Amino acid sequence: MKTILQIDASARVTRSLSRGLTTAFVEHWQKTRPHDTWLKRDVGLNPPSAISEDWIAAAFKPDDQRTPEHVAALQESDELLAELEPADVIVIGTPMYNYSMPSALKAWIDQVIRIGRTFSFDLTRGEQPVEPIQTGKILVILTASGEGGFEVGGVHAAQNHLDTAIVTASRLLGVSEHHVIRVEYQEFGGDRHQQSIKAAHAAIPKLVQQLNHKLGI
Ligand SMILES: Cc1cc2nc3c(=O)[nH]c(=O)nc-3n(C[C@H](O)[C@H](O)[C@H](O)COP(=O)(O)O)c2cc1C
Repeated sequence: MKTILQIDASARVTRSLSRGLTTAFVEHWQKTRPHDTWLKRDVGLNPPSAISEDWIAAAFKPDDQRTPEHVAALQESDELLAELEPADVIVIGTPMYNYSMPSALKAWIDQVIRIGRTFSFDLTRGEQPVEPIQTGKILVILTASGEGGFEVGGVHAAQNHLDTAIVTASRLLGVSEHHVIRVEYQEFGGDRHQQSIKAAHAAIPKLVQQLNHKLGI
């Protein structure tokens, strides 16, 4: 049995294309692996708090030196980490907002990447002092954007600070493998957009099958 953490980041509930992708992913997954544990975190509807000076001070205090105030400052982070740490697969459904991720998703990332919990820091390791504590997680990023061409080699690849930023940060979440499926051209509509939706929804069962095979189904 595996644990999957689903994160939805769109501020829209109705008409959200990224939520449509996560829903399709869950449906396909549960058909073949009905006994896996699904954890859902809706940061689009319930954005995590931005980290604060108190949060940073608390995070960098060793566990045994934390005051009740430090413990309180990290409570939300602890709750989010309790969902992240057991996850074998992380599925993130996210829109592109202003060429990057929604602030609610960035707040989640800032809450969960934590010294001593998701990464260690050791200057004796030279140029790579930051190392993840966990490894082997699989990340699936399901995106929706108004324009298109954000893939590697695409006309807008240089403006893509969405999946690229998530993938960079995900190493410190314990991710060792990632996959990206995109719906594009939402703002343009038309055939190109419809084709993009069709291609993304066709890619989902294939990816589910590939991952199920890898995880032992
Ligand atoms: C506040 C806001 C900012 C956006 N910024 C971009 C952008 O920078 N690039 C882009 O291609 N689309 C942008 N879009 C379009 C969305 O990415 C697109 O509508 C997508 O379908 C939203 O995801 P959802 O359908 O899951 O809600 C933006 C939309 C909103 C509401």
